[in-house]
Amino acid sequence: MTTNENKFQEIISHAKEYGFVFPSSEIYDGLSAVYDYGPYGSELKKNIRDYWWKSMTQMHENIVGIDAAIFMHPTTWKASGHVDNFSDPMIDNRDSNKRYRVDHLIEGLADKLKEAGKTKEADDLIAEMDRLLAADDFSALKELIAANNIVCSISGTGNWTDIRQFNLMFSTQLGSVAEEADTIYLRPETAQGIFVNFLNVQKTSRMRIPFGIAQTGKAFRNEIVARQFIFRMREFEQMEMQFFVRPGTEGDWYKYWKEARLQWHLSLGTSPEKYRYHDHVKLAHYAKEACDIEFEFPIGFKEVEGIHSRSDFDLSQHQLYSKKKMQYFDNDVDPATGKPFGNYIPYVVETSIGLDRMFLLILSESYEEETLTKEDGSTDKRVVLHIPAKIAPVKLAILPLVKKDGLPEIAREIMNDCKPHFRCFYEEKDAIGKRYRRQDAIGTPFCVTIDHQTKEDQTVTIRYRDSMQQERVPLSTVRDVVLKNIS
Ligand code: GAP
Repeated sequence: MTTNENKFQEIISHAKEYGFVFPSSEIYDGLSAVYDYGPYGSELKKNIRDYWWKSMTQMHENIVGIDAAIFMHPTTWKASGHVDNFSDPMIDNRDSNKRYRVDHLIEGLADKLKEAGKTKEADDLIAEMDRLLAADDFSALKELIAANNIVCSISGTGNWTDIRQFNLMFSTQLGSVAEEADTIYLRPETAQGIFVNFLNVQKTSRMRIPFGIAQTGKAFRNEIVARQFIFRMREFEQMEMQFFVRPGTEGDWYKYWKEARLQWHLSLGTSPEKYRYHDHVKLAHYAKEACDIEFEFPIGFKEVEGIHSRSDFDLSQHQLYSKKKMQYFDNDVDPATGKPFGNYIPYVVETSIGLDRMFLLILSESYEEETLTKEDGSTDKRVVLHIPAKIAPVKLAILPLVKKDGLPEIAREIMNDCKPHFRCFYEEKDAIGKRYRRQDAIGTPFCVTIDHQTKEDQTVTIRYRDSMQQERVPLSTVRDVVLKNIS
């Protein structure tokens, strides 16, 4: 196991121990690739979602939000192409009966080659895989697996079946009597809820092109290789925005959103060198141009967000299947003709980020096990989450030094003053050092301690998580110090 894999395991354990993420239905031994968010996890997840929502809707006058249902008319998925195309090439090992996604199997070997310093071989292998995937050449892909002696991690053999496509959508029945029920799907992406509502939203919010519709919500995929904690789950959450533009301008908007989305990530203070773009060679069935924003997780560079130029594919398909017009009338004047642009089906540039992956990104970036040297020369360890203050689950911990002498009463007053404005945590049990460490472990950026001096001069000690510096400030300023740092 490499050091980074160790770090990944430490993050998973930490997330469980401190109430961020639990395996789903753990008392029944869990459910593969399904996870629950605990008290601090649900708070952090909500804060990331809110941060995205605010930056998309409140900060863009031409982007509005919706909240569409998970269930949609089954024809939606026929029109969108998901029934026919939303599949991954898979291969089974005959000896272990284990199923693999072909790209994951080959990428696994490429990672090993890179670790062994054979970067060129790894890059050539990935380039060849991309080429064959783009050509849907499954027999050549199988030969590539055989030629590189890629074996199953369980059986250790290369006894592979042919490569086949598997659809990733979950289906269920709508209606009470099975024979009469219609098969419907759990949405595999939130985007289609936006497309089918395009005209409802455009008309009711009086939007003019270019404009966007944003949505956050659950999506479901029957991932065959579902592992790596919350990185790849069967039930997950997306934050998507479809930006509707005049045909011919999509290339410029694609560039704009590619850059704007990276800037959003960097606005959280994340290290720029941990990001890179990956331009797609094999495009999804709807895409004209596409890239991933990748982040260097402890398990390597992986996709966290996709930017896709989807042309007018989705709206045209819904127009075709529903027989309802999906056109927009553009009365801006076309300088080339001197006449209005008129009716057309808009083109779409999509930004699509996984909330759970963003959550994992924040945990990966903020987790640190520090070795501290004490005054007497001995060392100590502290585990700290350097979560950006604006999205930290708890912003302020309020800690009376002792449980008596009127200190809890003063602490409660601070609590009452602050809790309408941001999430606070009150605790009076245990030594103060222990309490600080617990707050470090959940990423609380500020702690205030109320001691006997507070009674004399109305000041408290404020402690900063990252530097561990402490300073005395007037009790009355605590709320504003925190507000200033989280705004
Ligand atoms: N509407 C476009 C779309 O769904 P995608 O690249 O398939 O595009 C977008 O998914 C994002 O959703 C990904 O970048 C990733 O962050 C997240 N995502 C996709 N599958 C996921 C899974 N199984 N578990 C967690 N997140 C996932």
